[in-house]
Amino acid sequence: MNITVIGTGYVGLVTGACFAEFGVHVTCVDKDEEKIAQLEAGSIPIYEPGLEEIVRRQKAAGRLSFTTDVRAGIQSSLVIFIAVPTPPQSDGSTDLSFVEQVGRTIGEHINGYKVVVTKSTVPVGTADRLRKIIGDSITQSGREQFHCSVASNPEFLREGSAVGDFMRPDRVVIGADDDEAVAILRDLYNPLYLIEVPFIVTNVATAELIKYASNAFLATKITFINEIANLCEAVSADVHLVARAMGLDGRISSKFLHAGPGYGGSCFPKDTASLAHFSRQMGVEQRVVTAVCEANEAQRDRMVDKIEGMVGDLDGATIGVLGLSFKPNTDDVRDSPAIEIVTRLQDRGARIRCFDPEAMDNAKAMLKDVEFCSDVYSAAEGCSALVLATEWNEFRMLDLPRIREALTEPVIVDLRNIYDPAEMRREGFRYSGVGR
Ligand code: UDX
Repeated sequence: MNITVIGTGYVGLVTGACFAEFGVHVTCVDKDEEKIAQLEAGSIPIYEPGLEEIVRRQKAAGRLSFTTDVRAGIQSSLVIFIAVPTPPQSDGSTDLSFVEQVGRTIGEHINGYKVVVTKSTVPVGTADRLRKIIGDSITQSGREQFHCSVASNPEFLREGSAVGDFMRPDRVVIGADDDEAVAILRDLYNPLYLIEVPFIVTNVATAELIKYASNAFLATKITFINEIANLCEAVSADVHLVARAMGLDGRISSKFLHAGPGYGGSCFPKDTASLAHFSRQMGVEQRVVTAVCEANEAQRDRMVDKIEGMVGDLDGATIGVLGLSFKPNTDDVRDSPAIEIVTRLQDRGARIRCFDPEAMDNAKAMLKDVEFCSDVYSAAEGCSALVLATEWNEFRMLDLPRIREALTEPVIVDLRNIYDPAEMRREGFRYSGVGR
């Protein structure tokens, strides 16, 4: 089978490369010529463990190709995945202009039956809207002899473990309103069916909502434990043990109960805001999700207050920050709590020295007047406090005496609860975690 993936961001590139691993012929299309040239040369523009090897291997096997020629991509394939950006707008709504443009282009070039699948996270109702856009475009282009199905196949992959998530997902969700599209998508995902991955086959609106409900629920879980962590600080309880004991209840589960600076990244902040927005438009208030968005925002400020509380006066102080990506194993800094905290520390007059193993290039585009250092110890040099903002593995085994020596004050603010508070005090640090 030939498929085309339009948009070679995180989702599109992982999807294309992994389908090629299944033995499918994949064309990845993007309008960014430089990116396509780089991919054609076998190197990937993002940091995602395992992905570059797959891209090289599948390119060499002739199953994966990259092009800017969207017409060729559309005409050569039975299934077309749309994985273009769906950025948030200031009122929380989702900008669907890229998706809609792809829909018009498909209508202009359609040359036979196609299954058009939204992979990008899009508000409920987008597939129906897309069907109409493609239909209108088909009519305008005089190609009425051809038609397509529009399906939703939301992606649940996490950055940093995207390849594993694609190859062994918890479930595959297929939303389609006709049997032909379902049969083709089932066929495409057959390798996962064979390893007994559960398939949820439903209508498009349900599939679209599954994605939002899942992400909003996870964001709620994180926010819940963050608020419990804040209470732990007030009553001298330990959130680590609260979360562990809660997680042992099978109905709750231990995952996504790690207290910290609040969730970030390209999905949770955007998807929670979008769910609240489009639900309100349908006349249904999402009170829980709306409160989650507010509480997550407040958590970031609380972290800055915490650092200030440990340092005294931030005005003129130098603070070392370890980790800039929104989570480990990615170079992605979109909506990263670390970046936000750096900016808010600067607003209060602090100077910043920082280090991240992968995200410094991306962070440079977002931060001004920050000293980017070559390693952890240089970031700590001359600082009144060291803030652990992202839990990269290499921050878990720091040479603590060396850190103490580099700092002017032995202060560590551990926003990811990597270290044991009692041990840090024994090592001579004034230490603060989150909720411990
Ligand atoms: C998420 C979803 O997990 C994935 O299914 C969806 O397809 C895209 O959005 P991702 O954005 O890659 O994936 O990150 P994830 O690992 O889910 O973490 C999101 C944020 O929550 C990060 O900022 C992380 O640090 C934070 N988090 C996660 C916590 O603060 N505590 C936790 O216990 C778990």
